[in-house]
Amino acid sequence: MDSLSNKRIILGVTGGIAAYKSADLVRRLVKMGAEIRVVMTPAATEFVRPLTFQALSGNTVHSALVDSDAEAAMGHIELAKWADLLLVAPATANTISTLVQGRADTLLGAIYLALNAPTMIAPAMNQAMWHHPATISNLETLSRTGVEIIEPDRGSQACGDIGLGRMQEPSQIVDRVAARFHSEILLGRKLVITAGPTREAIDPVRYISNHSSGKMGYALAAAAVEAGAAVTLISGPVDIPPPDKCLLINVTSAEDMYEAAKKACGNGEIFVSAAAVADYRCIDISEKKIKKTKNVITMSLERNVDIVSRISTLKPNLYVVGFAAETENLIKNAKAKLHQKRLDAIIANDVSRPDIGFNADDNEVFWITKDIVKNLARDRKSRVCREIIQLIAAAFDEQKAAETSEEQTG
Ligand SMILES: Cc1cc2nc3c(=O)[nH]c(=O)nc-3n(C[C@H](O)[C@H](O)[C@H](O)COP(=O)(O)O)c2cc1C
Repeated sequence: MDSLSNKRIILGVTGGIAAYKSADLVRRLVKMGAEIRVVMTPAATEFVRPLTFQALSGNTVHSALVDSDAEAAMGHIELAKWADLLLVAPATANTISTLVQGRADTLLGAIYLALNAPTMIAPAMNQAMWHHPATISNLETLSRTGVEIIEPDRGSQACGDIGLGRMQEPSQIVDRVAARFHSEILLGRKLVITAGPTREAIDPVRYISNHSSGKMGYALAAAAVEAGAAVTLISGPVDIPPPDKCLLINVTSAEDMYEAAKKACGNGEIFVSAAAVADYRCIDISEKKIKKTKNVITMSLERNVDIVSRISTLKPNLYVVGFAAETENLIKNAKAKLHQKRLDAIIANDVSRPDIGFNADDNEVFWITKDIVKNLARDRKSRVCREIIQLIAAAFDEQKAAETSEEQTG
């Protein structure tokens, strides 16, 4: 099961005897599809050689805070921005106290402070250290600030003591990490998403299309799967792998996409139209390759079906989310589309900016409903999409609750 596909995890390894178990942890996380960057404290390198982690993760191991070569490649701030999760396993009593104090005198401490992602720690220490009031108080502080503690196991310890303090088994830690990325906010909901461009044939070898990479639609599908939804992904031609656990339907033209979407929405509850559908198609598709004989040729085009608009009319009970890719008057144009196409929400993005949008890995969008205009700040598409899915789930639940209360009062 690849349930950590495309997840970027920093594994912090600290100077405890359980550091050897982190090698198995890396192997398991990589097997589940995660991309791992290992950050070792100097003490940890006394227990396990960095080369072990480099070989298992396929990436350079980071250790020193002040290292001009490392900073030139991927410095502490870039590492912090890169990560979807920081997992510290094993977490020594010393590192736990470093995190509590907010000290930035180790690479791991600095990354923790600069991080914009969740942190999980798997403490490992002698049972007396574990029960010490200082450790108890430190863990309470971390827990209060949102750090997830993976409680240690009970058993015989390397020092000969018996008690609580052994690091949780790697298989258990991996399960907790996977659970962290999954929620149930759309559990069992049937979601249909369109993604990518469409291709409108000119002749057997040529077509009209656009620059859509499908990244946004695919990231939305992945986030919806993580949220527990049953996802049908209707995709135009793209070069990226589909997310796990969604039903993929490949299509080429706008007409194919419309037919597939109409069918899938038949028993769907939420429709997200993230595809960049060609507005026009050729009236006459040449059966043979058009020869290069004339200096000027003319093609007649006709309007394609407006998929999202047609589906929102056909299925008034569906929660429908559209996209507005604009180059000017972003909010105004998006609001007009929301209204004209009878959408429940629209996600507006400025495709004139080269740093976000079509082919970029980042995006910055506005979530717009009839009452709300909310900016989702520039971030990786995967993260922006997780936020969008949370907004969709909340709005969908609200709509369902309103329908139920209407039925009861009516
Ligand atoms: C053999 C040995 C085993 C140790 N095991 C642990 C341990 O399991 N947990 C712990 O909190 N500290 C342990 N320590 C103490 C840490 O290595 C020490 O506090 C160190 O400063 C931790 O640095 P770090 O948190 O930056 O990795 C051990 C020390 C030695 C010498």
